[in-house]
This record gives sequence, C-alpha cells and structure tokens, in this order.
Amino acid sequence: MVRPGLEYSSDYNRAQVKRLIDKDKTISRRRFLAGAGALAAVPLISKYGISGEAGPIVEARLTAGPARVQVVPSAYPATDVWAYNGELPGPALRLRQGERLRVQVRNALSEGTTVHWHGVRLPNAMDGVPVITQPPIAPGGEFVYEFAPPDAGTFFYHPHQRSFEQVARGLAGALVVEEREPPKVDRDLVWVLGDWRLDREASIAGGFGSFMDVSHAGRIGNTVTINGRVPETFAVRAGERIRLRLINAATARAFALSFDGHRPWVIALDGQPLEPFELDGAVALGPAMRADLILDMTGAPGSRHVVRDSFYPRREYELVSVVYGEEAPLRKSFSEVPRLPSNPVPEPDLRGAERHEVRFTGGMMGNMRAIPRGMAWAVNGVASGCGEGASAFDPFLALRRGRSCVLDLLNDTAWHHPIHLHGHAFRVLTRNGAANPRREWLDTVMLAPRERAEIAFVADNPGDWMFHCHVLDHQAAGMMACVRVS
Ligand code: C2O
Ligand code: CU
Repeated sequence: MVRPGLEYSSDYNRAQVKRLIDKDKTISRRRFLAGAGALAAVPLISKYGISGEAGPIVEARLTAGPARVQVVPSAYPATDVWAYNGELPGPALRLRQGERLRVQVRNALSEGTTVHWHGVRLPNAMDGVPVITQPPIAPGGEFVYEFAPPDAGTFFYHPHQRSFEQVARGLAGALVVEEREPPKVDRDLVWVLGDWRLDREASIAGGFGSFMDVSHAGRIGNTVTINGRVPETFAVRAGERIRLRLINAATARAFALSFDGHRPWVIALDGQPLEPFELDGAVALGPAMRADLILDMTGAPGSRHVVRDSFYPRREYELVSVVYGEEAPLRKSFSEVPRLPSNPVPEPDLRGAERHEVRFTGGMMGNMRAIPRGMAWAVNGVASGCGEGASAFDPFLALRRGRSCVLDLLNDTAWHHPIHLHGHAFRVLTRNGAANPRREWLDTVMLAPRERAEIAFVADNPGDWMFHCHVLDHQAAGMMACVRVS
C-alpha cells in the first residue's frame, strides 16, 4: 500500500481520509500580573527594546520527550516521535506584544536539548544556543526561558542542540505574538509545515546526518504535514477572512504554496509587516521562514480547491484540499487588506554602515576539498560544526553595538541555503546586484544557488549570535558561524 523511498510527496499525502486539519492548537492562557502572587519572586530577567515594560506574564510549560502520535492517516500506524507535551507540533504559544513569556522547559529526552525562539529579538541569555548562551538542558533537567518579545508576529521555537535530528523527530512549535490591536479577521490560524522521512510502517527512518543528505539538499523527507498531521481537507466557509500564519518547520524542505482560485495577500514575512501585496503565484518558504497571509474565502459554497506545493521542479503535489461548507457566504465583499503596525526594529544607516563579505562554499558539485573531513560546507573558508565540544563559536565578525552593518552574502554553491541571523531582523537590500523593491525585513533569507544578496541591520543586541544555514544538516556540517555584538 505504501511505497517506501524518498519521493517528494508520498502515498500518505495522497491518501483520502475525511479528517479536518483545521485545528489551531493554542495553549490555555494563564495571565498573571507581574509581581502578583506566586510570581512575585521572579526577577525580570532583562530589559531590551520595549520589553522593559512590566507587562502581564504568560506562562507555559514545555516537556520535550518521546511520544507516539498519529502523523499519517489513521489507516496507517502511529509514529514514535519526539514532541513537546506529547503534541505535534508543540503547543502554539500565544501572547500579546508587550507581554512577557515565561516558559519552563523540562527535558524528558535521553540527550541534552535547548529551546531556541526563532526570530525573536530577545536577550542573548534566552536564545537557547548550547555552549554559547547556556549549557544544554541535561536529561531530566529544566530551564526557564523568560523574555518579552519586542515585535508582534509569527515566530517558532525548536531545539538548537543536534537540531538536524531533534527537529526532524518532531520538536518544533509556533510562537505567535499578537499585535496590540490585531486586524479583524474571522479566524487566525497557524499552519506549521513539517516534513518527515517515514518508512512503510510510518516509523521515522534513521540515518540522521548521513553524508549524502549533508552534502546535498539536507534530509528532505517523503511525507508533508500541516500541524503534525498529513492533511486531507481544510474546511472553510464562503465569505470568511482568514489570517493564515505559515511556518516552515521542516529541517530541509522548501515550499512554494499556491491557493488555486484564490489570491491571498501577504501581510508579513518572518513576522515582520510589509506593505500588503497580492500573491501572484506562490509563496516560497525556505526552512524556518514564515509568512502571514490574508486569505479571503471568495469561493462558492460547496466548492473545492487545491493548495499546491511547486517548489521543486517536476515534483509538484497537492498539499491539501480547501473544502467550502454549504452555508451562505458570511459576507459578499471584503474590506481592504489592512497594513499591520510596524515593529520597533531600528533602521540601519546605510551610508555609515560597515560592510562585510560573507561567502558560503562547499557541498556536492562544489569545492569540498578545502573543507575538513566530516564537514561539507564553510563560511568565509571556515567550517564550524555544532557538535558537542566543537570550537565553532569564535566569532567571525565582531560588531560594535549600535553600528549599522551591511553583509554581502554570496552563495558560491550549487544548493539553496536559508541563512538565518539570531537576535536581529535585517532588511534585504539587493539580490544579484538589483535593488530589492520591497526591502522586506527578514531573519532568514533564502539564497538560490550562486545567488548574492545584501542585507542590512543595526547590531543593537549585545551578545554572541549564531549565523547559519537553516538546512539543519548543512548547519551541522560547517555552515555556521558566530557574530559578536559588543
Ligand atoms: Cu531556527 Cu539557529 O535557528
Ligand atoms: Cu544550507
């Protein structure tokens, strides 16, 4: 029934089982006033940006551990995964801009772990990078993360310890920071996109970090999930306006999603607002990238439409069917798509900026001879791994706090690389020498093979920050570096 092998879309994805994936798993919110009751003794860990406000605290507990979850349709077996709180994806953590998040993380795995809050401009000590910002949380151990995200937007959390395996086994979840006055929509949904390499028993295949994966496109799987489950249908009502927050939590797979019969608007990328634009084609998301869409359900009651993924040429497949209920449309016409309020990201001063070149090399069909054994990639000629005991963390760039900085990124390889900088958001100024019309803020920029891009940011957040490819096998095999802001 189920073919093994490494197809880009598997039989699991094609299976037709009537199950709705329309679940937006949200943790129950427990709000406390800072200083009240049990939290009186908790010091505010740091002040950064607007996070100095002693806003209400949203508390959550996450336990990373083994779990057995139905990932594929119920005609097939359940899958042994690693999960937060036994759920796939981990619980969606939601708070409002100005609030503080306090997450008590317990490690029920048999190896060390950390939690990294991807895209959040937080104090360095809360960044969840082993060795650099904290020792890994030992098996049975705990760590409390606490910070107030300065930016509203769609973020996510995942381990930063052996992430090429820990994320591939299921450890990732959404972090949503709502605007103080969110735009009016009928539903605010999160799709955490996942990618799994499963065998015919729906078990996760081994071979993590194989040189084959590491030196090519990374561990691309054969089964794609939305919110931890192979999707079948997405139930909607005619005339409703949906805010759809897409998060690519895959370790290696990129997506290019199009919504047949619909014209979604993009209102934010990587959590950062931009001038809304109507999607003409597909929204492309490399690993770790996010997009907020406004999806107006303009289809007729009872109609059916397809969401497709066409990132890989000749590997296009149907991700999920959009199924309209029979009810009369909620509204006949839609108001203008709102622009989200800007986040307090400092604007780089391009004239006074210091400039640095960053060259990514290696990989199959690249020059791997110059790269040490066991590694496959390099940043400015240096291959740094994130294995235990790695001396990967000597900064390759030292920036003075407050300086504006332009990085000229050159992907001198035959592969795609989503390049992520921790602790900051950056503007994409140019691509292949041409001005980038939207100049969007991102925290992860996808570089196509041989592509060059200039990014700019203010180095305003002190600490040692990871700068790496978010194809997690590439990261572990040398495509990682550290930027020091002091
Ligand atoms: Cu999403 Cu260095 O991480
Ligand atoms: Cu890469």
